[in-house]
Amino acid sequence: MIIFRTVSEVSDFVAREKERGASVGLVPTMGALHDGHISLVEKAVKENEVTVVSVFVNPTQFNNPNDLATYPRQEEEDFKLLSRAGVTAVFAPTVEEMYPGGPDAQPPHEFRLGTAAEVMEGKYRPGHFQGVAQVVSLLFRIVRPDRAYFGEKDFQQIAVIRNMVESEGIKVDIVACPIKRADDGLALSSRNALLNEQQRKAAPEIYAALKDSVDYSRSHSVRATHDNVVERINAVPGLEVEYFEIVDARTLQAIDEWEESPWVVGCITVYCGKVRLIDNIAYRLPG
Ligand code: PAF
Repeated sequence: MIIFRTVSEVSDFVAREKERGASVGLVPTMGALHDGHISLVEKAVKENEVTVVSVFVNPTQFNNPNDLATYPRQEEEDFKLLSRAGVTAVFAPTVEEMYPGGPDAQPPHEFRLGTAAEVMEGKYRPGHFQGVAQVVSLLFRIVRPDRAYFGEKDFQQIAVIRNMVESEGIKVDIVACPIKRADDGLALSSRNALLNEQQRKAAPEIYAALKDSVDYSRSHSVRATHDNVVERINAVPGLEVEYFEIVDARTLQAIDEWEESPWVVGCITVYCGKVRLIDNIAYRLPG
């Protein structure tokens, strides 16, 4: 596995590989890798001749400086995991390498991300999706992947990236990969490493409430299902729901009636102490 630190090195490498006809898969990450990331990497390795994984904690997508400062970092451990998973190359640049004018310099432009970016994470983390679009579009221009892999835990992020790719005219297949969970149901996340023992014990209640609510939803309204989940999670000491929205999975706009969409997802963000955890569940799937 080759480790690249500069934009020119990784783009020259990819150019050579593309010249010989190799297909290129990209897995963008912020490091602190877990089995969820590794499942994306393994899929990329299976589907492409060359797999590049980026490891970069992108400052422009953090609206809370403390969140950026405490984001877990474990580069050496990440590199070992990626090498074991059969990755061809890692791109792990510095902030200066990615943003030569500094992360606070004006981004190239305001990305057109559609109404999907205005709700939920877009509402509670102002500027977050502009930062995600900025770094992901930059990575796409540097690595020029045929396919890029993202986890469905960040359900809204995938929709926003699809909108960005379309509005920027970037040719890449966005591959959405299922959520990986711990044995107790907690969605795997780099932020889980920040939970103390007590918080780690409380956190699985998020998925337990979501999972049970699928049954509940069969005989209850959207509003009742929503309230049931929020009340159950908020009743657990140490957990506090920031938002829970039951939405049309294609537009991400909230629905009032189950019949409004053939594909309905519930997206939740919960504070577990200071740690912000997200998860989602499907209530209705197309077909
Ligand atoms: O999902 C993430 O880890 C990040 O938002 C991403 C896509 C790597 C961009 O920094």
